[in-house]
Amino acid sequence: MRLIRSISVMNAYRLALLREGVRIGLVPTMGALHQGHRTLIRTARLACDAVVVSVFVNPTQFGPHEDFSRYPRQLKQDTAMCRDEGVDVVFVPSQEAMYPSSFQTGVTAQAVSQRWEGAHRPTHFGGVATVVTKLLNIVRPHIAFFGQKDYQQVVVVRRLVADLNVGTLIVSCPTVRDPDGLAMSSRNVYLTAAQRRAAPILYRALRAGETAILKGSRDAARVRHTVLMKLADEPLVQIDYVSVCDPDSLEPLTRIIGKVVLLGAIRLGPVRLIDNLLVKAKIKGRRAKSR
Ligand code: PAJ
Repeated sequence: MRLIRSISVMNAYRLALLREGVRIGLVPTMGALHQGHRTLIRTARLACDAVVVSVFVNPTQFGPHEDFSRYPRQLKQDTAMCRDEGVDVVFVPSQEAMYPSSFQTGVTAQAVSQRWEGAHRPTHFGGVATVVTKLLNIVRPHIAFFGQKDYQQVVVVRRLVADLNVGTLIVSCPTVRDPDGLAMSSRNVYLTAAQRRAAPILYRALRAGETAILKGSRDAARVRHTVLMKLADEPLVQIDYVSVCDPDSLEPLTRIIGKVVLLGAIRLGPVRLIDNLLVKAKIKGRRAKSR
């Protein structure tokens, strides 16, 4: 396994791989790798000949009062996990190389960035879209792997890849959870013991919404209410948003038809948690055609 810090070395390595006809997979991360990241790496390992994991705590996607400076940094453990998983390259560019003082360009996917996470973190998706574009341009992978855990992020990345004609296939991998349902996240280490005990309520509440849909509820407001009521069971929780949306546009729905995504974000003290569930509503009253 190689540890590459320089963008030009990464470029050259990637060119050499391409000449050999190798299929390259990229897993972009901010490090502090956990089992969720491991699943992305394993999926990439199965689908590609060479796997690049980038580790870069991207300053531009953190708001001014967010946790950039205390975000967990543990490159030694991260490279050990990557070596375990047969990763070919860990790419760790410096902040100066990614954002030299002359830097002035930004990528923004407009409508899909504005709601939900975008409304609570106004500069977040601009930072994500810009750094992901840069990483895709540097590594030029055939496939890049993202987690469904950050549902809106995947929608933003798919949008920029389509709009800017980036020739990379985007693959979204299912959310990896702790046994009690809490979606794994590098930020879960910030939770106190009491907050950690309360945290799975977000997943349980989304599951209650899913159950309502699967039992036949087609009124998005009622499903949303079901999720909100479940969250209200937990006194430590403050709700940022709960929504029932179209899975591609992320526009809120009134009627539930076909596939929908339930999105939720809560705060437990200073810690924000997000989660989501994709749900497919069966079409009611459809009978099998008689031959
Ligand atoms: P980071 O939070 O490190 O996550 C890296 C990738 O791992 C993302 O695609 C994220 O969705 C995925 N991931 C995180 N937790 C997961 C879980 N429990 N199950 C499945 N996948 C999970 O997301 C980012 O970094 C950054 O925004 C990045 C895309 C690297 C751009 O800076």
